[in-house]
Amino acid sequence: MTVHFKQDEPDTRNLLDRGSQDIIGKALSRPEGLAKVTGTAPYAAEYHAEDTLTGVLVTAPFTKGTITGIDKKKALEMDGVVAVIDDMRMTVRPAQGGAGESPEQQPSHIDYFGQPFALVVATSFEKATHAAKHLPFSYEADDLGDIPLDPEDMETEEDDGNVRAGDLAHAMATAPHTVDLTYVTHGHASAAMEPHAALAEWDGDRLTVHASLQMPNFNISELSDALDLPEDKIRIISRYVGGGFGSKLGLSEEVTAAALAAMELKRPVRVVMSRQQVFQTIMRRSESKQRVRLAADGEGRLIGFGHEARVSNLPDEEFAEPVLQSSVFLYGGENRLMELEVGRIHQMTAGSVRAPGEAIGMPVLEAAMDCLAEEVGIDPVELRLRNIPEKDPSKGLPFTEHELADCLTKGAEAFGWEKGPRKPRQRREGEWWIGTGMASAARVHNVSEAKARVTLNGDGTARVQSDMTDIGTGTYAVLTQIAGEMLGLAPENVLVELGDTDFPRGPGSGGSWGAASIGSAVVIACQSIREKLADKAGIGEDQLDLRDGSLRDGSNRTLQDLLDGEPLSVEGHYEPGDISDDYTASSFGAFFAQVRVNRHTGETRVERMLGAFGFGRVLNAQTARSQCIGGMVWCIGSALTESLLFDPVDGHLANCDLAEYHVPVHRDVPDLEVIMLERNDPAASAVQAKGVGELGMCGGAGAIANAIYNACGARMFEFPMTPDKVLEAMPD
Ligand code: MOS
Repeated sequence: MTVHFKQDEPDTRNLLDRGSQDIIGKALSRPEGLAKVTGTAPYAAEYHAEDTLTGVLVTAPFTKGTITGIDKKKALEMDGVVAVIDDMRMTVRPAQGGAGESPEQQPSHIDYFGQPFALVVATSFEKATHAAKHLPFSYEADDLGDIPLDPEDMETEEDDGNVRAGDLAHAMATAPHTVDLTYVTHGHASAAMEPHAALAEWDGDRLTVHASLQMPNFNISELSDALDLPEDKIRIISRYVGGGFGSKLGLSEEVTAAALAAMELKRPVRVVMSRQQVFQTIMRRSESKQRVRLAADGEGRLIGFGHEARVSNLPDEEFAEPVLQSSVFLYGGENRLMELEVGRIHQMTAGSVRAPGEAIGMPVLEAAMDCLAEEVGIDPVELRLRNIPEKDPSKGLPFTEHELADCLTKGAEAFGWEKGPRKPRQRREGEWWIGTGMASAARVHNVSEAKARVTLNGDGTARVQSDMTDIGTGTYAVLTQIAGEMLGLAPENVLVELGDTDFPRGPGSGGSWGAASIGSAVVIACQSIREKLADKAGIGEDQLDLRDGSLRDGSNRTLQDLLDGEPLSVEGHYEPGDISDDYTASSFGAFFAQVRVNRHTGETRVERMLGAFGFGRVLNAQTARSQCIGGMVWCIGSALTESLLFDPVDGHLANCDLAEYHVPVHRDVPDLEVIMLERNDPAASAVQAKGVGELGMCGGAGAIANAIYNACGARMFEFPMTPDKVLEAMPD
């Protein structure tokens, strides 16, 4: 049976508080952790199938033009080569899941350097690699002079969702304090540890694909469209995913190519992208140019607030990095102007990379807020506190739980923030300037439709099934806790099975909606099972007190006794209703950082960083904290090192591996302190939790930028703030 719950209003049933197992919200290690660290958890490429062939993708060595011919006959003469697949259905745009969308989009048409156009299939990886490298093909490349490659030169169009109210220009002309600043941020790569990989098997009737994907619930439709194969003839399995960060939201060519090859050759085919291919073909976070205008009264209260951004993508791509998504509701100011523009250049597809929008919008806004605090002459924390609006200033809606003020004050206290107006260069140790900075965090809260089946087995153990994924975020642990809490079971008696489209459709992992959405489906199913158990026990559900598989009513009855060998199985179906028309929902936080900057080399080291975060109910203190820490590590990367570098001549990505694209390494990351506010948010989801996955990287790079200025007096308007730029901006 299915229980459907559409959330149109705050859910004040407090379902998760009805259980007595006392594990919800606690730190629980990942149930799959041992399998992962011992190498026995199979990732997509690690499945074994008899007679598997290996496919290697061939990518375009030019920026724009047409593949005019592939000499397949010659290719097939190469050692071990079995086939060359150049089926047009292979071409998908990874970010938006454009698979099969436009039949006229030929694979022969190349839009960016590194775009896959063929798959060479051979009997071994080495032979496929060799043949892919030497595949004879001809092409006609467009004249580089005709291809827009530089974001500075591109033509832009306006994106939707813009906000205009009052008269910002007038506010800027008349307010006692103003700043008008323009920033540049560079592109980012998702840089997940596990490269994109797929193993496809075709049994003549049904296709099974082991792949590394965030959203099998959606990817199955993409694949169905691409192959023109009904969904019930497809099974996608993604049990373990070695990080996604957005790059595995949609299908990319390794999946479609492996599927097409397996169907044509009637043998299993494995395709794994090289690290360079992942960098060059998957997708990028757009670079941005952002202008922030802030006009404040004598006390620092905003009268005018402008945030304009320009981002880029390939022609015909819908996605535009939503840079202003949290700016529209974060601070007050009656004269508002927020406009996003997207321009067209021939770099690879721009798409969702962790915290799309806020990841670059918030650091810029928060760096500008630091300049305003200096201009007004007040403490930066106080400036934020004075500008927290009562209601969403753009939509006029009330907020669900709003944790920003608490995060600011609790974070400041825990960090030992020294209040008051600030001046740079107050502290020096030898050749190092030392300083501190802070920033607010905000990330919109989303929920998504989700289904999960919960079965309470006759032996008193439970099983949770959904095609939801765990991309390193902790889904297995969190769902274990929710089912265990509700059904009175120790974690070891709950089995969670994920990442298989033969299970009910989950929400997928993306946009920080995972835990709140699938958790809501599971809690609804469990609540229904509780009602059935209470019936069997002859009591009301509110009297049902279960722990460790037994009723705690003095009767010594166990779940097995109640079930009498008959399992109970319920599919929970959670659906977000109209509640988003009534509330603005966001997770909030505050970052505090201490850095040291070398006065001779401009090198910046983050010495200390603290984040205080509010995201509704904490479902698992350990995995939530890990999410916050992961986000803060990326704050360090985007503040100091991470930058996609494109060749200005032909637009190819120059730093396409982890040696040249610098994510922070262990030595770059100090102990990171995380404070989590625990405040249930009934309007957010049935489990009263909001998104946490991306929150930790929404603004922290601004705190580091502000700390650099406080340390050494270098105000910079470009992220990342590499040593050369720090030195250039450092006063004598
Ligand atoms: Mo996230 S960038 O939606 O995986």
